[in-house]
Amino acid sequence: MHYIPPRPDWQGRQEDITHESQWLNRREWLRLAGFSLLGGNILASLSTPLLGQGQKETLDSKKSTHTKTTSKPSHPWKNPKFRSAGRPLTKESLVTTWNNFYEFSLDKGKVHKLVQPFKVSPWAVEISGLLKKPGNYSVQDLEKLVSPEERIYRFRCVEAWAMTVPWTGIPLGLLCKKLGVSDKAKYVRFVAFKRPKESPGFAALPHYPWPYHEALRMDEAMNELTLLATGIYGKALPKQNGAPIRLIVPWKYGLKNIKSIVKIEFLAKRPDTFWHEAVPHEYSWLSNVDPKVPHPRWSQATERLLGSDRKVQTLPFNGYGKFVASLYKK
Ligand code: MTE
Repeated sequence: MHYIPPRPDWQGRQEDITHESQWLNRREWLRLAGFSLLGGNILASLSTPLLGQGQKETLDSKKSTHTKTTSKPSHPWKNPKFRSAGRPLTKESLVTTWNNFYEFSLDKGKVHKLVQPFKVSPWAVEISGLLKKPGNYSVQDLEKLVSPEERIYRFRCVEAWAMTVPWTGIPLGLLCKKLGVSDKAKYVRFVAFKRPKESPGFAALPHYPWPYHEALRMDEAMNELTLLATGIYGKALPKQNGAPIRLIVPWKYGLKNIKSIVKIEFLAKRPDTFWHEAVPHEYSWLSNVDPKVPHPRWSQATERLLGSDRKVQTLPFNGYGKFVASLYKK
């Protein structure tokens, strides 16, 4: 997070932002339009004439993705509480080609190409520490314990850009209950992969405290907003966005949202975090979105919506204060 390169040519403009009505899949569109009682086959045969040609093209075009993903079909329950984030969805092709993933590159536009040798299957997450059911879990094991659901969240990077993404994920608090996390655990630590043969960033940036690691207080981990995400836009998480499993905490800066997690530990004592350890005077341990506290290089008062030159005001806790502000009252 040293430097934001000037907007490259491939980066879209405001008009490119996909409106929710375009993102919704055909069945969903029809359901919202009042056809929810029709059976699947009847629905399929009726759907085409009901849509205007332009709309049909937009909806059909969602079937192909800009980048290669392990696109297993996914039809998670769409949590109605988080069906909208009060902003248009960011275009999927931007979310998957503008990435901070230092294990691969500092250049956000190159990450999606450099991730290709990265193997994300098979994958195990080692869960250890103060809990009843430690062990090695596959992503499927975790999804069996707690069903993934879809939620649309705003996402705010400390570099003052923002996006709005439909995440598929497991609520971490529910998972903690299933795993029998002890009351003695006060923190949870997350560790990302470290495989230098598959990712050039480790050798290129040897001064960083690899592997990437993050942590939350247990009350933050148990908050209903906190997700372990396994997908975006109804598909499996692309490698560049943190496949196969990453953390999503929408009231905190993007740097807390650790990607490609291999280890989760429940601890009594506060562990350090990657950016706080590397540059403590620039990144606080909590890293909650706060427009009043400027970063030395980026004012936090406003944010640029990805795909647009438009700046909007940044809200405390990224607008999620009603869910989390009480956690930080002394
Ligand atoms: N996780 C790992 N393992 N490595 C990283 O470099 N960067 C963080 C976060 N998680 C990072 C990471 C930062 S700074 C941001 S802004 C987000 O990932 C970016 O997520 P995205 O590429 O899906 O937009």
